[in-house]
Amino acid sequence: MGKLIVGNWKMNGSIKLVDEFILKINKQAILALPSIFISYVHFKNPELRIAAQDCSIFDGFGAHTGEISAQMLADAGCKYVIIGHSERRKTSNSDAISNILKKLQNVVNCGMTAILCVDERYAELIDEPTSDILKNHLDKVVIAYEPISAIGTGKVSSLKDISNVLADIKNSYFGVKTLYGGSVNANNVKDILSIASVDGVLIGGASLKLEELNKICQISMCLL
Ligand code: 13P
Repeated sequence: MGKLIVGNWKMNGSIKLVDEFILKINKQAILALPSIFISYVHFKNPELRIAAQDCSIFDGFGAHTGEISAQMLADAGCKYVIIGHSERRKTSNSDAISNILKKLQNVVNCGMTAILCVDERYAELIDEPTSDILKNHLDKVVIAYEPISAIGTGKVSSLKDISNVLADIKNSYFGVKTLYGGSVNANNVKDILSIASVDGVLIGGASLKLEELNKICQISMCLL
């Protein structure tokens, strides 16, 4: 299997941009879209791999105004769900570790893969009981290391830091798949993907530029 290339659009995009991507995106990419675009994209191109950027702590259906459950995301065509992104942890009180674990459980129960984001505080995940829940679902979880200092700043973490942290995570979680995220672009992705403990990248800003995202996919395929 090739490297995982995940583009996180965050709160960006429009139907016009989505239409452009549907036509020309490299099929290796996974797009984490604002939820409003998910069923539209899936309907127009069921082959495209779609991620959601979050899901509710509640499962199934119910009286939870404004929430979107993992079950609804799976039904709309999602195969992956990002959970615990530091931007959500900053703004949402539903993103304490205990709630992130509920979301993780909901995502895997619905047959999707959870992209669990960790930042410099990644060590908190290694504590019990977090580790038990994670260890039970390692085939359906990808852990993305996104240091806050590297997100949207243009300052990628040092290759040594990326290599060490992801190796540490892999050791703690029996070879779980890993991503690095934070200021990844077409110029630095080759060095990042060449690190042995890195299985892919989670890309913010650069994933909104179709040509750059496709170039990143091409670079990753040359590394196979
Ligand atoms: P940038 O690539 O814009 O730094 O964003 C990283 C990120 O937060 C992806 O989830």
